[in-house]
Amino acid sequence: MTSEMPADAKGKFITLEGIDGAGKSTHLPWLADRIRATGRKVVVTREPGGTPLGEKLRELLLSQPMHVETETMLMFAARREHMAQVIVPALGAGRWVISDRFTDATFAYQGGGRGLSRDKFAVLEQWVQGGFQPDLTLYFDLPVEVARARLAVGALDRFERENAGFFARVRAAYLDRAASDPGRVRIIDAGQTVDEIKIILQNIISTLC
Ligand code: TMP
Repeated sequence: MTSEMPADAKGKFITLEGIDGAGKSTHLPWLADRIRATGRKVVVTREPGGTPLGEKLRELLLSQPMHVETETMLMFAARREHMAQVIVPALGAGRWVISDRFTDATFAYQGGGRGLSRDKFAVLEQWVQGGFQPDLTLYFDLPVEVARARLAVGALDRFERENAGFFARVRAAYLDRAASDPGRVRIIDAGQTVDEIKIILQNIISTLC
């Protein structure tokens, strides 16, 4: 703990979620800097990924066609490693962890988008996480057609190449998940300007720090 860090500071786990093109990654560095400005140490990470093994699994997941259950198990395998190597140790050391995606993405993409039964990944969630959940999830919500227009033209990965119907199901599953856990998940209208969103994020951080 640094001398400028508030004495009562405890590590918090914040996740950012949204359909591809919703803009969460744009806001992540700014959010991390704002929290650092309060004296906290912040670890920025992502899923799938965040560890050397997780990044190798990410390469496969984003490029290699596979059965939806294989995909789901690899997401949780990467997550298990991520929790063991990065998230839990950092929180234990009093750091804040901001992850670009976590388990809500599995509910949205594999559950909503691909239609995998929730019972299947609820078992994996329990196995990998026990009761562990983010302290706060910022869900960037945007209509599918707007998000798709924002996606960079060029090399799209295996998920980004999915059709509008897939992303409509992903979005619906995210909204469903947010509604079932309103204390943890904050819905942010990602159609606002970057500056408007910064004000909202600043207000949210102020209640946490
Ligand atoms: P990213 O491009 O936002 O980093 O995310 C990579 C892709 O992985 C994105 O299209 C969503 C997908 N994904 C899942 O399908 N399930 C998951 O559990 C996670 C973490 C990501």
